[in-house]
Amino acid sequence: MKRITPLAQSLVLGLTISLSTSAQPHQASQFRAKADSIIALMTLEEKIGQLNLPAAGDITTGQAASSNIAENIKAGKVGGLFNVKSVEKIRDIQRVAVEESRLGIPLLFAMDVIHGYETMFPIPLGLACSWDMELIERTARLAAEEASSDGICWTFSPMVDISRDPRWGRVSEGSGEDPYLGSQIAQSMVNGYQGGDLSQPNTILSCVKHFALYGASEAGRDYNTVDMSRLKMYNTFFPPYQAAVEAGVGSVMTAFNEVDGIPASANRWLMTDVLRNQWDFDGFVVTDYTAINEMTAHGLGDLKTVSAKALQAGVDMDMVGEGFLTTLQESLNEGKLSEDQIDEACRRILIAKFQLGLFDDPYRYCRAEEAEEVIFSSEHRQEAREMATQTFVLLKNENNVLPLSKDTKIALVGPLAKNRENMPGTWSVAANFSESVSLYDGLINALGDNATITYARGANIVEDALLESRVSIFGKPTYRDSRSAEEMIEEAVEVSKDADVIVAAVGEAAEMSGESSSRTDINLPTSQRKLLEALVATGKPVVMVLFTGRPLSITWANEHVPAILNVWFAGSEAGDAITDGLFGDVNPSGKLAMTFPQNVGQIPIYYNHKNTGRPLPEGQWFQKFRSNYLDVTNEPLYPFGYGLSYTTFDYGELQLSKTSLTGNETLQASIEVTNSGEYSGQEVVQLYIRDVVGSITRPMKELKGFQKISLAPGETQTVRFEITPDDLKFYNYDLDYVWEPGEFEIMIGGNSADVTTQAVQWSK
Ligand code: BGC
Repeated sequence: MKRITPLAQSLVLGLTISLSTSAQPHQASQFRAKADSIIALMTLEEKIGQLNLPAAGDITTGQAASSNIAENIKAGKVGGLFNVKSVEKIRDIQRVAVEESRLGIPLLFAMDVIHGYETMFPIPLGLACSWDMELIERTARLAAEEASSDGICWTFSPMVDISRDPRWGRVSEGSGEDPYLGSQIAQSMVNGYQGGDLSQPNTILSCVKHFALYGASEAGRDYNTVDMSRLKMYNTFFPPYQAAVEAGVGSVMTAFNEVDGIPASANRWLMTDVLRNQWDFDGFVVTDYTAINEMTAHGLGDLKTVSAKALQAGVDMDMVGEGFLTTLQESLNEGKLSEDQIDEACRRILIAKFQLGLFDDPYRYCRAEEAEEVIFSSEHRQEAREMATQTFVLLKNENNVLPLSKDTKIALVGPLAKNRENMPGTWSVAANFSESVSLYDGLINALGDNATITYARGANIVEDALLESRVSIFGKPTYRDSRSAEEMIEEAVEVSKDADVIVAAVGEAAEMSGESSSRTDINLPTSQRKLLEALVATGKPVVMVLFTGRPLSITWANEHVPAILNVWFAGSEAGDAITDGLFGDVNPSGKLAMTFPQNVGQIPIYYNHKNTGRPLPEGQWFQKFRSNYLDVTNEPLYPFGYGLSYTTFDYGELQLSKTSLTGNETLQASIEVTNSGEYSGQEVVQLYIRDVVGSITRPMKELKGFQKISLAPGETQTVRFEITPDDLKFYNYDLDYVWEPGEFEIMIGGNSADVTTQAVQWSK
């Protein structure tokens, strides 16, 4: 077959290589025309080749593997590659695609750049707790700057799956339980990665995932069945995906789970009716890892059948499993699909390559010198440290144990105190784990020669060695200690003897959350609980620094440990940032983006629940024949939106501009917030609304706005929200997006459970 060089290709296309790809009004149609002129030159095999996305990294998560990647690239049978970490390697591979394949079509290079590239930011659930959209966008921007100079032009982020189930390990990768907060974060992330202009070399294509409902897998077991009403989909689980589409996300990844009885990757209603027709998505759809192949196990047929179904449903690119590569031609010959359908998928991928400027310069993302300068630079690390401090949630601080003074004698104890590798948390593909800052490092950095720190490991992550081996993976060792639990505890108590305060670094190892890390027991592991008991029994004040990728049921600790600072997995600068928090150089201001249950039996538990026909009167525990439990109250351990500060904030009266409104009027709601404590601090002021009577049942409250304010001691600020009928809208029984007149409760407060409320009547 005739080989067409890139130059000849540009002549055939009637284009010049320097043709600009920058944002122009008629850009979309230009790219489409360019893509069509390439398609006209392509063989069927080459077109199908563009739909093939093999994995080249070390992490394999699926059930099949890609074959002969190098040969396939030369044969024009690869559209992109992912998880290659090395700008030189990427340049080499791109050279093969551009110089040795017949048409010289450049490859997309993707990676799971989830919460940072080499400079790691806190896990997404932690970032969500900052409630700071500028900060979140900035993390994505910095990640894009690092990744884009190192060969990467496409990230599989953001993950926006709403979840109400902390047993599901992947809650660590998302933004928690709320559709409003989740939607804002989805947009910020997309804006951060794509920078509003994909033609810039330091922006990358974003991929929102996992479409759809992946966070609702039954019993929190990863990849499990999902079954959900359309009302719940539209009102609660869809908004963040749609928000990402509205922000212009360039690609969408399908979920592993089924949606309404059909796996997402073959669900035409989902990918074509909803995504493309209702939401006007015009990018391309990629499956998750081997998700097409997995539809055979779902019970939808053999690889040929499921591959054809996926294409027909709206999938454009097949991640890893090669179902498209090996079967689409045969399905076409059998008349099961049309060449137009293949062309359409190919066109969408080529358009993305044009948007990214890869046809102008296939090596534009390989900027080794710049990579050297920006990646893991001291500036980025400093920003990461500052950002991490904004994600910590102070869960308890009895007797103001925190902040610590720098001359306090500290006993540092716990299996996570000296573990650098675990600091970045799950999905940190490009990170150099050994360069992360542990809590021990952080304390030494802060105190220098004056440090009077004693240290003991105190406990293993978990008692069960088999369980520990399952989470001591991906270059994140847990350093299991062969001593007995008693010996370790004894040592910890011994080193605490002369200390003024004990800092206990406890919680989950990084890989106890993340993909395929579901847990049925979300207590603090027994080994660490016993350690805590012994530390508390010393009578010294104990500060629990909690590392976790999910809400945990730390009921015992909440009762017995005076101070608890939840630091999630705070990224490469974790130790320095935590130290900033412990010493009060930064006052914690994070607010939970996901409810902490009292115990696993309360799950799913979330703030925006319905009332039921037999609600328990507020403040009560048990009444026979009411919706409640015999053995535990209905309240969570810590509600959505909760988080303390070293200072205190007093809320004044909720003021409303009116209590009776008509049509498109705007309601002004305001409240005075005063810093009544001794430290400067930040507070996230939250607005919730309840639609009291509806044509369908409505949640008890829904987040509709928030503002993060900074106040000096004694300072008061009036925080104002404007509410319009748009804030009252929801999907009704016919799935029309409407608002209904009637009574609404307006609530403002510092967390979802602690609000002041006033009612308004709003008529049409
Ligand atoms: C995960 C995705 C990820 C993909 C590629 C899958 O196992 O579900 O979130 O983007 O692998 O690494």
